[in-house]
Amino acid sequence: MPEIVLDGLFKDYGDNPAADGLSLTVNDGEYLCILGPTGSGKTTCLRMICGLTKPDKGKVLFDGVDVTDMPVSERSATMLSQVYSLFPPKTVYENVMFSPEIKEWDEKSARQLVRSMIKMVHMEHKVSSYPIQLSGGQQQRTALARALASSSEVLLLDEPLTALDARLRLELRQELRSLVKEMGLTAIHVTHDQDEALEMADRIAIIRKGRIVQTGTPMEVFRNPKTPFVSNFVGRSNIFLGKLRSVDGAFSETELENGMVIRARGTDIPAGTDVAVAVKIGSTRFPPIQIPTEEKPEPEQPKGYFRGRVERVLFEGATITIEVDAEGIGMVSSKLPSRRYDDYKAGDEVMVSWLPERASVFEIPPEGMDTELRLD
Ligand SMILES: Nc1ncnc2c1ncn2[C@@H]1O[C@H](COP(=O)(O)OP(=O)(O)O)[C@@H](O)[C@H]1O
Ligand SMILES: [Mg+2]
Repeated sequence: MPEIVLDGLFKDYGDNPAADGLSLTVNDGEYLCILGPTGSGKTTCLRMICGLTKPDKGKVLFDGVDVTDMPVSERSATMLSQVYSLFPPKTVYENVMFSPEIKEWDEKSARQLVRSMIKMVHMEHKVSSYPIQLSGGQQQRTALARALASSSEVLLLDEPLTALDARLRLELRQELRSLVKEMGLTAIHVTHDQDEALEMADRIAIIRKGRIVQTGTPMEVFRNPKTPFVSNFVGRSNIFLGKLRSVDGAFSETELENGMVIRARGTDIPAGTDVAVAVKIGSTRFPPIQIPTEEKPEPEQPKGYFRGRVERVLFEGATITIEVDAEGIGMVSSKLPSRRYDDYKAGDEVMVSWLPERASVFEIPPEGMDTELRLD
């Protein structure tokens, strides 16, 4: 159950570095998710931890011991590869029995362990089947059971649920996590699926271009993103560009080019800086339209409330996404529970707003906003 430290890892394959100063600490017994888009270096990271890839520079430590030059077989880590790697001439049962057998476990406890792993991945009905007789999802589940039965203290899971049917994928999230916790393992689970990471992880490390850009609990990375990229990758965000006008304690005001003012949470960024204000699409609200009266006329600019017109409403099952063309700030996307589906249709006049403390302010990165937000 060791603590794992990655200290300044570099791995260059020519074009873009797959690891570019990658540093990360994984605590003993932790379930850590590495979340990042395709090509960000997730698989390379796992391969360096288990010894399949040697870094050009930097160190890997298991409980303070430098294992960078240690062969795979001597590290107590098992990697479940993104491409399933079952032995074709062996049955499901024999595949899962592989590790206990070579480790010469006592037969009775080996059988018990193998049976319980097979049960956990819902493969009891296929114990005698060969890999070729299994669907992709069933092969993946068998590979998962085999990895769990290896009794390594460190489990490296490379997109372990991606090949499964949607329903089973959701079911296995909690089961896999509980099992890893019960067995007291340290798990590093790589995924590009933000919901999976948010639901399963003790902590999430966001990886981008071979570098960890933020680590924190699911709530921390969701609520307090450190960069516009994180803000948009973990829960999509609306982004508005402007100049920071003032900061007053917990709140700040940013002026857009057209003079519109957007309120957001406080920041250390000095006034006058070009900034981006990011608002999660799930943080927007639709307050009732205020009709100005003689006693209560419409303020000159109702800060934080924007009039708009619904452009379209997308039904997504549990949620809907409403696109609103808002006066002065452009398109705003909003995620609402789908019971609100009947309340809005294209063409409706609405007000859209958010709590300023839910809007984050970022300095615009030197490479520009478009590059920052790209997913590759
Ligand atoms: N064996 C390899 N040879 C050449 N390039 C590689 C190799 N492995 C990974 N890369 C490159 O390194 C980058 C990161 O890859 P990878 O770690 O597989 O990312 P991810 O798992 O996040 O999709 C990609 O640009 C990929 O093309
Ligand atoms: Mg990968």
